Amino acid sequence: QSGKNQGQMEQIVVNGSETQVVVDDSNLLQKKISAIRLGGPAKLQVIADFDATLTKYRIDGCRGQSSHNVLQQEDPEFNDKRQKLYEYYHPLEFDPTIPLDEKTKLMEEWWGKTHALLIEGGVTYNGIQNSVAKATIAFRDGVTELLELLEEKGVPVLIFSAGLADIIEEVLKQKVHRSFKNVRVVSNRMVFDENGHLRSFKGKTIHVLNKNEHALDMAAPLHDHFDDVNGLSEEKSALKKRTNVLLLGDHIGDLGMSDGLDYETRISVGFLNDRVEDSLESYRKAFDILYLNDSSMHGVLKLATHLC
Ligand code: TMP
Repeated sequence: QSGKNQGQMEQIVVNGSETQVVVDDSNLLQKKISAIRLGGPAKLQVIADFDATLTKYRIDGCRGQSSHNVLQQEDPEFNDKRQKLYEYYHPLEFDPTIPLDEKTKLMEEWWGKTHALLIEGGVTYNGIQNSVAKATIAFRDGVTELLELLEEKGVPVLIFSAGLADIIEEVLKQKVHRSFKNVRVVSNRMVFDENGHLRSFKGKTIHVLNKNEHALDMAAPLHDHFDDVNGLSEEKSALKKRTNVLLLGDHIGDLGMSDGLDYETRISVGFLNDRVEDSLESYRKAFDILYLNDSSMHGVLKLATHLC
């Protein structure tokens, strides 16, 4: 007998709201918590997926929008074309019969075509602001407090997404009403011309199947100035020294977000939002802590308070 707790599902009340949480191996989790506490905030970093991890899966019974879905172009023809691509490629994204190399090509094709339509049909910063203002998108309760705590403790947060950086940053601006100096968004970042029109995307395209490379190695500099490039490489080496990781995701593939990092201890937290019965077994084995049914972020906030 290893004394391993066999993944009991617990109904707990955090911050007044009831939530379901599953821990597959509580002994292992306790060991990881002790190790991270010992290292303190100076050795910790947080890597978080955006869509349906930091944001709610459902809002008033409707599916919350992803950063891609939020963006509405002025010419509706381009929104329709992107929607058609979504209808074709999204089922392929989750088709278990397609070999990985073939699926990677399909995902590159999808992201390539979508980015081309955004450029061709036009996107402006104003358009982004208006799209976000109208969007069905909301952070999980407790996300703001979590980001505030991590900022206070000097713990960096990488938001790693195959979505659109400019949308994610606008959502942070409009929904949290402040910026965080410890948060960096690593996602597909737009380049605008002097008239404020989208012209291209910076750096390597991030799609769902290459999120397993180290997030920072895929980060485009925020500005095209040398000092930011230098800032980025300094940031990278500082982050590589933070060898304890708290990882947040809603797909098993999100676990790959820390692959490029030579971490000592990692606590992974999963959010299983939908079709719980189909995925419970695989998710509870994959994540150290699993929250069910579109739970709040209060449990993670409590954990983070304990870790740093
Ligand atoms: P992520 O936010 O988990 O990194 O993944 C991005 C999601 O965006 C992925 O599930 C596919 C979706 N997507 C769209 O909804 N519309 C698009 O045009 C593209 C390219 C992706």
